[in-house]
Amino acid sequence: MSDHITVTDSDGIRMVRMNRPDKKNALTAAMYSAMAAALEDANGNAAIRCVIIAGVPGAFSAGNDLQEFAQAATSGQGLGSPVIRFLHALARSDRPLIAAVRGLAVGVGTTMLLHCDYVVAAEDARFSTPFVSLGLVPEAASSLLAPRLMGHRRAFELLVMGRPLDAAAAQGCGLVNAVVPPGEVEAEAEKAARAIAALPPESVAASRRLMCGSPDDIVARIDEEARLFKERLHSAEAKTAFEAFLNRKR
Ligand code: COA
Repeated sequence: MSDHITVTDSDGIRMVRMNRPDKKNALTAAMYSAMAAALEDANGNAAIRCVIIAGVPGAFSAGNDLQEFAQAATSGQGLGSPVIRFLHALARSDRPLIAAVRGLAVGVGTTMLLHCDYVVAAEDARFSTPFVSLGLVPEAASSLLAPRLMGHRRAFELLVMGRPLDAAAAQGCGLVNAVVPPGEVEAEAEKAARAIAALPPESVAASRRLMCGSPDDIVARIDEEARLFKERLHSAEAKTAFEAFLNRKR
């Protein structure tokens, strides 16, 4: 269990909070493991009707911890089994997933939203996926889900060109359901969660399965991206980008 992830259950709603504010919620292996466990445990758990994923004021998540990426690159590792376990848990969740996004959503902070059923964003939310400028490739099945959601050209602009989206643009391309002031994000996400929790759960689950299709296709894409990601982690392009971040002037 990671101290940087808190899991609380109330009235059928599980709140999974990323809570590492000093590092803008950059995700470590321990955090991925804790989040994966929280999602896996919700599956088939009659006491949990839906799951909210939230961050802290100003930071949903700054993405994968770049220090850990740099270590993985030098030790011949890939994304790492905790990351893959979390991504599979997102794809295989049988509970509706809601996200409450305040501030930064970088890398997996944005791509995990493609697995969510309802996303509330603060007016200060900013979504970006700088994979290619880091010498990497998109992950979390975003290469499949983003073009499906917003069309190839807008997905290319986000995933390959790395152009950020503000809250209004994210709503415009269907990544976000509602945009509210930062102080209202969690209340709005909880309102949606309560509305879902009040519906007949078997009917919700069956409808969601019909809409999402087979998770196997999504899991297969996560694994294919992970193979390429591992290759890219060891590239000179990635090494240069990580060093530039870790040694940047403050
Ligand atoms: N991995 C590791 N540490 C990170 C991090 C990451 N992804 N993102 C932020 N941090 C750390 C910073 O190193 C800094 O730590 P320090 O105070 O010990 O030096 C702390 O979090 C605060 O970050 P800082 O850069 O000072 O805040 P900022 O508001 O100026 O900028 C970001 C925030 C997120 C824009 C910037 O930190 C950034 O670009 N991070 C990298 C994001 C990224 O590329 N993620 C991977 C995507 S695949």
